[in-house]
Amino acid sequence: MPVTIRQIGPCFVGEVEGIDMTRPLTSLEVEAIHAGMDKHAVLVFHDQPIDDAQQLAFTRSLGEIELTHNTGLRAASEYRLPNTFADVSNLDQNNRPFARDDRRRLFSLGNRLWHSDSSFKAVPAKYSLLHARSIPSKGGNTEFAYMPAAYDALDDDTKRLIEDLVCEHSQLYSRAQLGFTEYSDEERERMKPVRQVLVRRHPTTGRKSLYLASHAGAIVGWPMPEARALLRDLIEHATQPEFVYAHKWRVGDLVMWDNRQTMHRARPFPAHEPRDVRRTTVAGDAPTAAQAEAA
Ligand SMILES: [Fe+2]
Repeated sequence: MPVTIRQIGPCFVGEVEGIDMTRPLTSLEVEAIHAGMDKHAVLVFHDQPIDDAQQLAFTRSLGEIELTHNTGLRAASEYRLPNTFADVSNLDQNNRPFARDDRRRLFSLGNRLWHSDSSFKAVPAKYSLLHARSIPSKGGNTEFAYMPAAYDALDDDTKRLIEDLVCEHSQLYSRAQLGFTEYSDEERERMKPVRQVLVRRHPTTGRKSLYLASHAGAIVGWPMPEARALLRDLIEHATQPEFVYAHKWRVGDLVMWDNRQTMHRARPFPAHEPRDVRRTTVAGDAPTAAQAEAA
């Protein structure tokens, strides 16, 4: 069956037909998916009844997997999934929803803020692939914002102002926005900020986009309040309704997005209901900015 990609909603979202993730991909299918990602930035695949091994095989056919290592507050002994997955569910290692005040849950609420996956790593993620195994009775949408269009819509003065800026990204910054500020020294150490350019150029399409995330909490060389005010303005601009698509999940959906061209955020859902969504991640190629000397 040939692969077809049909635009749904805004121009940056495509719905894919003709892919069966329970089987190995052909080279033509791999090519079609990469081309679809370059064109759309978000691809939706419905009705994919895959298990972990099949999700990993599908992801590996598109690139090298980014491992989850020390990025949340789960101790290694508390992992529900192998570290080839990012566990963005609300479930503990026994598949039970976290208590409302569980520290691991509260930290993960940072995903409700607009972000680009692993922008807090020196080499940030390329693609994320999120598969829905079970979903809550209501809520829990994922929203995506398209950064090339947001960049294009900036006025020329703003484009000039931001062209060469470098931001510092850390999960400490995003969580602080929610009032989550209690960490051990070890946690604080591993969440030290990394540097990312604010304007990225897509290697294939050549289009520029805003590389933003709630993890961005400082601009190199700028006074902090001025940096925060600009970042806030840019995120507000970039997430206006005309740049946003809301995905309403069905069990079996796999949604794949390009973190170099989009931001996303999770929406709320009843805390006591399981939301088992499993993310695999295709690693990025290189840092976007030179990193600061270690202090
Ligand atoms: Fe995310």
